[in-house]
Amino acid sequence: ITDSFILQNSYPIPCVGFGTWQTPNGDTAIQAVKTAIDAGYRHIDTAAVYGNEISIGQGIKASGIDREALFITSKLWNTERGYTKTLAAFEKTLTDLQLDYLDLYLIHWPASESKYFDWEQINLDTWRAMTELYKAGRIKAIGVSNFMPHHLKALLETEIAPMVNQIEFHPGHMQAETVAYCQSKNILVEAWSPLGTGRVLKNEMLQKIAAKYNKSTAQLCIRWCLQNNVLPLPKSITPARIIENSQVFDFVITDEDMELINRMPPFGASGKHPDQVDF
Ligand code: A2P
Repeated sequence: ITDSFILQNSYPIPCVGFGTWQTPNGDTAIQAVKTAIDAGYRHIDTAAVYGNEISIGQGIKASGIDREALFITSKLWNTERGYTKTLAAFEKTLTDLQLDYLDLYLIHWPASESKYFDWEQINLDTWRAMTELYKAGRIKAIGVSNFMPHHLKALLETEIAPMVNQIEFHPGHMQAETVAYCQSKNILVEAWSPLGTGRVLKNEMLQKIAAKYNKSTAQLCIRWCLQNNVLPLPKSITPARIIENSQVFDFVITDEDMELINRMPPFGASGKHPDQVDF
């Protein structure tokens, strides 16, 4: 679980992250983060809009682990786009998390063509602030989330290219075009909801394949992400599941089974799409 992918700027990122979307602020988040770190997770993914950064920060503190041993990601919310607001939102997130730097900061959603005439310029202005924070060493790596190839284009022509794109990715919802585009540009793809927020765990074919390896369906999905060179961010607040989701290094999915899963028909997607989200 502490094995790493290496980002395009040579910064290592632990290859399974702990997801915290829909983890309520308060004791639940504190305990979840503490349990995850105790279980060996060193990579925690949160966002300002999750409303739990204060508790995530407390959980990190309570773990007693050295800051340098952890990889912490947060995301800039849609209402804070633009150069000046981005700088301020970043400071607020650091304060809430009680940290003095972030390992990774992402633009949560692209300003998109469905809502903004000048969407590309808005994303560039936001990116200029992220770039500045990166160059000042206050963020070790910068990237985006929920971007499609056409959203990425302009950013790729700036001084510092995005290092990560975090998208919804799980069996039945692979966004193959976006993944191929990112991988061709050396942008690491991260999977939000690698278990389809739990919806894909009911799929019979996945259950059958998982049983063959004596693993749970959740473990199969997480391992399948890794074997596609996509970094999974499974979320759980249940201690047994938090541990279970980290135990994905004692089996290898065969090429045939990878193909079977890769070719599954669409199912289980959240329905959120960068062009449809009304932000
Ligand atoms: P809970 O947090 O109550 O333990 P995703 O990461 O795709 O968003 O999925 C998160 C959902 O899947 C949550 O509802 C979480 O429940 C559930 N979940 C996480 N890990 C497991 C697991 N190993 N087995 C079954 N359900 C899980």
